[in-house]
Amino acid sequence: MRAIVQSGYGSVDDLTLGEVPVPEPAPDEVLVRVRAASVHPDVWHVVAGRPAVLRLMGSGIRTPREQVPGTDVAGVVEAVGSAVTRFEPGDEVFGETVRGVQWRNGGAFAEYATAPEEGVALKPSSVSFEEAAAVPTAGLIALSNLPRRRVPAGSRVLVNGAAGGVGAMAVQLAKVYGAHVTGVDHTSKLALVGSLGADRVIDYTSEDFTRSGERWDLVFDVPGNHSFREIRRALDPRGSYVLIAHDAFGATGHRWLGSIPRVLGLVARSAVSPQLRGGSFAAPDKRALMGTLAGYLEAGQLRVVVDRTFPLDQAARAMRHLMSGQPVGRVVLRIDD
Ligand SMILES: NC(=O)c1ccc[n+]([C@@H]2O[C@H](COP(=O)([O-])OP(=O)(O)OC[C@H]3O[C@@H](n4cnc5c(N)ncnc54)[C@H](OP(=O)(O)O)[C@@H]3O)[C@@H](O)[C@H]2O)c1
Repeated sequence: MRAIVQSGYGSVDDLTLGEVPVPEPAPDEVLVRVRAASVHPDVWHVVAGRPAVLRLMGSGIRTPREQVPGTDVAGVVEAVGSAVTRFEPGDEVFGETVRGVQWRNGGAFAEYATAPEEGVALKPSSVSFEEAAAVPTAGLIALSNLPRRRVPAGSRVLVNGAAGGVGAMAVQLAKVYGAHVTGVDHTSKLALVGSLGADRVIDYTSEDFTRSGERWDLVFDVPGNHSFREIRRALDPRGSYVLIAHDAFGATGHRWLGSIPRVLGLVARSAVSPQLRGGSFAAPDKRALMGTLAGYLEAGQLRVVVDRTFPLDQAARAMRHLMSGQPVGRVVLRIDD
């Protein structure tokens, strides 16, 4: 089959189109004929091998263990493993190809990919393959960090980085829960944030929300460009802070451990700061989370705006477009027949 191949860690420009064998599904996996695959920042991390710690976390020390990048697919089930019970050939599905929470190549940038049954859901017919492919990783991280129990109806929620893959999901989830949502992002992306349902938008190029004098019940922070001391100015004393952390394609310079030390620092501090409690380190129940995301998509409560699609052989161009910071919406590879 045709697939994008990454032979070493480095630049997205080294990604090439090659021929590799069609993967065999394990007993608990489905084989998907891929129609679309999402281009998102975690793909860049594994292509670049940065932060270096991901190489010790199963991605492969010197070279990537799995040569085909990508983690999110939408397509048609071609075959199922012997233990699969929920899907059959011909089903239109979307899902994440890596197991649990793993930082590694998942083989999505290819004509066929395998995915564990637990990370896959039926694709609602109202949603295109391109839209569905953009959901899994971003949706899973947003939903697992922003469960309904954290957002009582009427809460004031601020999403920093609201136009990005994760932020756009968080804005819409908070609206589903009945929150009043403020979205912060770049000037060029504020119309998108408003169209996703944010009640208010803040342009980070001209306004610092931590100095506005306002307070929110929950701050969902994707870029993590403020210290917790600054964030506390904008947080209700009984409020809570959720940090996702964005490395901005290496621009923050944490080559070895990325945002891990900062996240661990916040975990330690949660012993004395109630605003940092409420998260969970339990392994996500992906089957339940994917089911919830599929339900919201079907009901029209979750929408995906696709900025641009690229054919499979232009994966490097698609990655460069993502890294330019220009996309207003998601970047997706489409795999034509
Ligand atoms: N996407 C996923 O599937 C996923 C899953 C798990 C973890 N993560 C992690 O989460 C991070 C974010 O992912 P993402 O897909 O949401 O990235 P993204 O699509 O690049 O979104 C980041 C957003 O934050 C905005 N931003 C940058 N600086 C800002 C600032 N100072 N204030 C407010 N907004 C700012 C960006 O706008 P400008 O670029 O225009 O400034 C962009 O709209 C990644 O580093 C990734 O490793 C992502």
